[in-house]
Amino acid sequence: MKKHKLNHIAYIMDGNGRWATKKNKPRNVGHLEGAKVIPKVIDYAINENIKYLSLFAFSVENWNRPKLEVEYLLQLLIDHLTNKTKKYLNKKNIKLNWIGFETNLNPLIVRKIKSVVESTKDNKGIIVNIFFNYSGTKDIENAFEKILDKNFSKKISNIKELLLTSELPPIDLLIRTGNEKRISNFALYDLAYSEIIFEEALWPDYNELNFNSNVKEYYNRDRRFGKINEQ
Ligand code: IPE
Ligand code: IPE
Ligand code: MG
Repeated sequence: MKKHKLNHIAYIMDGNGRWATKKNKPRNVGHLEGAKVIPKVIDYAINENIKYLSLFAFSVENWNRPKLEVEYLLQLLIDHLTNKTKKYLNKKNIKLNWIGFETNLNPLIVRKIKSVVESTKDNKGIIVNIFFNYSGTKDIENAFEKILDKNFSKKISNIKELLLTSELPPIDLLIRTGNEKRISNFALYDLAYSEIIFEEALWPDYNELNFNSNVKEYYNRDRRFGKINEQ
């Protein structure tokens, strides 16, 4: 049977807090360690010839965490919006996208994100999508609001065209680390026919062995898309 190539892999990068707590450290240490896993996962995906990598970094609901943790996560993002990151992305031919809402974000952060994204726009290698301040339900509601606006005149054939994820192909494989078995309002529309793996490893511990085993499991699955298999 023909296997569906792994074209788009997505992660719910979960388990940073538990990782730190297990080591008797503040939760933010887990976030710092978790951030270090991102370039590694980008390398694994490049080596596997994956075209799209999506990473859920911060949900709209995550604003409800304690102020100090939210501030730490925002600072961690800001700390990576640098010339050094631009150089790294361009050297590796990575095209970076930001998928998220501007609401509640400091305009300075938004400007910095856009500047990094802009600097990678002509890169032709892997496409890495950072979901920061994203909510799947809000994305769909937002699309409806656009349609209901009296000035809306665009001809569309599908709601997907109005989503923040409009440029992304469907997610083939979703991996959620940290062993929780839920979607937590990630890219709802794009997950319609995804294979899902709930990985036990906490995000800061996620490594190449986990990745290889997840990819192998994906290729062992039988994707039917509502059909039955041809014999
Ligand atoms: C994921 O790790 C990072 C974010 C949601 C920003 P968590 O912080 O949710 O870690 P756990 O689930 O509490 O262990
Ligand atoms: C999901 O993790 C969001 C991100 C990883 C960015 P959460 O830790 O926020 O999800 P819940 O609260 O356990 O569902
Ligand atoms: Mg969590």
